[in-house]
Amino acid sequence: MRQATVYIDQEALQYNLNRVKQLAPTAKIVSMVKANAYGHGVEACLAALSSSDAFGVACLEEALEIRELGYEQPITLIEGIFSDDEMQIIIEKKIECVVHHQQQLDWLLAHKDAYIAQGLKVWVKLNSGMNRLGFKVPEIIDVINSLKAEGFTCVLAMHFANADAENHPLNEQQKNQFLDVKEACAPIMGSCCNSAAIFKWPELNFDFVRPGIMLYGASPFADKTVHDLDIKPVMTFTAEVIALNTIQAGESVGYGSTFVADQAMDLAIVSIGYGDGYPRAFPKQNYVAVNGQPTRVIGRVAMDMIAIDATGLKINLGTEVELWGKNRLVDDVAEANGTIGYELLCRLSARPVRKLK
Ligand SMILES: Cc1ncc(COP(=O)(O)O)c(C=O)c1O
Repeated sequence: MRQATVYIDQEALQYNLNRVKQLAPTAKIVSMVKANAYGHGVEACLAALSSSDAFGVACLEEALEIRELGYEQPITLIEGIFSDDEMQIIIEKKIECVVHHQQQLDWLLAHKDAYIAQGLKVWVKLNSGMNRLGFKVPEIIDVINSLKAEGFTCVLAMHFANADAENHPLNEQQKNQFLDVKEACAPIMGSCCNSAAIFKWPELNFDFVRPGIMLYGASPFADKTVHDLDIKPVMTFTAEVIALNTIQAGESVGYGSTFVADQAMDLAIVSIGYGDGYPRAFPKQNYVAVNGQPTRVIGRVAMDMIAIDATGLKINLGTEVELWGKNRLVDDVAEANGTIGYELLCRLSARPVRKLK
């Protein structure tokens, strides 16, 4: 059997959840498990994250999966509902929604009594400069005040565009707008921290924090590693060596013959490719880890195979190769690929076998 495997380390997930608890001891934790738990597999992750206060997802289908798996914590739909008919379902299944535009407000108000009777909170989204979702100031103040007058329990919600950046001027604007609206609508619960903000701004933890990437043990910061942040990679992505070759100076490797050896070298062919979700384009030299050591990827990534430089290494047929995990961090693969760890984790294909570590 082809050995392309994604191992999920549930203890690492729990460790990372505990890091959130240390960093935000007074806030409730809304663990973000959207996009199949950032590509890790929602079922295995929920089991490890079951002490979370709530879960955050992007759509009704993702929320229903959590309910079908038997978890009863509150769930927040971070983009709200997409059509009127979803309202009845979320009320029945006790799923909370964000409202970020007038039509969603109208749908909510049309089901006011049932929504409130289920004890559901409504998350009102502030657009403080990211300009994706939300009501701007001062409109949001009227929205919140009228929802409160109707009897809704509201959470003021906001998302930072640059929480990972050191000194971006928008951070101050977003913080100030959030604090101003929170004060103008007092008393109201608040939620504005993703992973980067949880690390950087403990004073903004408020009632609910919404960690995503840090739970999965990847860094939200370009200039800080998971070791700096004391979090542990949850996913280890591996494959096996399926062929060994020796080539001479002047010989090339793979599609496009982009790599030409300048001296004799040993190659190991590994059964992984972009058909598994391993990225194809590497503007910078990429590495895998073999026996914990960085080992160069040679030539183009194909759909099912890559070549690595096995010169001088103890590599045999069947040797396990770590594409990313604890030795070769996904953030470093992403950097070589010109992207972020989030994307690589989320875009794994269904082909690698999922196993618990
Ligand atoms: C509204 C919202 N909150 C929280 C998060 C979690 O962010 P992170 O994974 O950076 O912690 C996201 C992720 O996209 C989000 O969209």
